[in-house]
Amino acid sequence: MRAPQRHHLRATGLGDDAIARPFVGVVHTHGEVSPCAMSLAPQAAAAKLGVEVAGATAREFTTVSISDVWTLAHDHGPQYSLISREVVADSVELVLEGQRYDAVVALGACDKTVPGMLMAMTRVNIPGVYIHGGPAIQGHRDGQDLNLYRIFGDMDRAALGEISETGLEDLNRDTVVTIGTCPVQGTASTASASAEIMGFSALGSTTMPAVFPQRTDLARKAGEHAVRLLMQGGLLPRDWVTRESLENAVTMVAATRGSSNMLLHLPAIANEAGIRFELKDMAAILRRTPRITSVAPNGPHFLLDLHRAGGLPVVFRALLDGGLLHGETPTNDGRPLSAALADARAPDGRVIRGCDDPFQSDSGIRVLQGNLAPDGCIVKTADLPRLVFEGPARVFDGDREARKGIAEGRFKAGDVIIVRGEGPRGSPGMREMLEAPSPIRRRGMGQDVALVTDGRWPIGTGGLCVAHVSPEAHSGGPLALVRDGDIIRIDAERGTIDVRISDEEFARRRSGWTPPPDWVGGLAEKYARSVGPTHLGAPTHSRF
Ligand code: FES
Repeated sequence: MRAPQRHHLRATGLGDDAIARPFVGVVHTHGEVSPCAMSLAPQAAAAKLGVEVAGATAREFTTVSISDVWTLAHDHGPQYSLISREVVADSVELVLEGQRYDAVVALGACDKTVPGMLMAMTRVNIPGVYIHGGPAIQGHRDGQDLNLYRIFGDMDRAALGEISETGLEDLNRDTVVTIGTCPVQGTASTASASAEIMGFSALGSTTMPAVFPQRTDLARKAGEHAVRLLMQGGLLPRDWVTRESLENAVTMVAATRGSSNMLLHLPAIANEAGIRFELKDMAAILRRTPRITSVAPNGPHFLLDLHRAGGLPVVFRALLDGGLLHGETPTNDGRPLSAALADARAPDGRVIRGCDDPFQSDSGIRVLQGNLAPDGCIVKTADLPRLVFEGPARVFDGDREARKGIAEGRFKAGDVIIVRGEGPRGSPGMREMLEAPSPIRRRGMGQDVALVTDGRWPIGTGGLCVAHVSPEAHSGGPLALVRDGDIIRIDAERGTIDVRISDEEFARRRSGWTPPPDWVGGLAEKYARSVGPTHLGAPTHSRF
């Protein structure tokens, strides 16, 4: 470090002794944008204390986050949520590289901040530890725990007149009662669980609620550990991101029936390590892994219950005992996973079960491929009586048109409803479509139609809902060439999705197809021009 940098550091209040030590960036997304991140500043302070006690100098900085709850509200224009993942990763890289920090402690707490932090850590590849902000505690009313997913059902009931708007608002008011991330197995907790099983964070840390005072101790230890990794030449993030650890993470997603968004984020994290890991690499894992937890929306319990049952180490141990994990992958403290889990409790049988006595025999998520999705797509199959659907296409271009058309009843039983142009580049930002399926659900027609999109369905219809179709329509994927009336067959049993069009007809239609213009304006324009395909995780700097 030379004189210009030293004078600047002195102006921040550091003495010569602090300047002589290694520098550890402590980055978080604390702010008042959402309750998710509001526990992070105190945890960052504890992490800084740990860094200082361990003999390094902590430098705190922040980056942005937005809440997925808000991005769900838009039916047109950029979906900034997935875009924000790239902004988080890029901004953390910017500071870590620009300021030449020696190590990092990264704290995240919402759907896209977690994968964004993991991507940045892997990209920069300096010693570091990830700390999850921790889940909120669920609300309770009339003898029942409440969760976000229930709100969608309650909205349906209100639309049908089964409950009043006041009743809806009363339930809404009681849904979550503390700060923290969604207290269910949503994207933030699934992403953090991936961090835990891959080695980015300490075992057992994900499920500890945001408001538990023990989080201060956990964060302090993480700060100390980051310095230990630096001083002792310990593991780097790319030692944690391997094909085996990625497969372990997919197994965990399957076993907890975690958020399918993680099937987008894991390839993006792999990309940062130079590993091509895509949808088709996950297909067999998703089929063979049983669901062994019962956390909402897949059961009556919450992350607090999972924590009290021993947390994720119990889940990992059960999967290891079931022969479903690579036991030699390194954990955050450097021990192989199998050794680190040796003392994990046995499943309680209520929130967590063993692989020989699962809640369900598979993950309830399948990967499909075929001439409609040559690079793959996903479908949720849990609890569906019917895994094969064949019918004529009913095509809508974009969420706005789909919302209107479906609400007006411009579809019939037997249709395969297609909503295209909502992929990462088309939206741009890969829309999570919340409202379009609602009228189908409310009419009780979930089993009568199938849905197919290159965007995402956070909440489906209760029938076959295919998402993440890759390549997307906007980039000229086959979905762009489908017309009303084309016969589409979805076979989730065999893992296929095809449209009955001959190769010659496909070629004829393609020759007359004109690519739609990319979004113009601001960040979304830059994003649309650089984003990669869904099956590779939609990264903005794909290595493949
Ligand atoms: Fe932030 Fe769910 S909206 S974690």
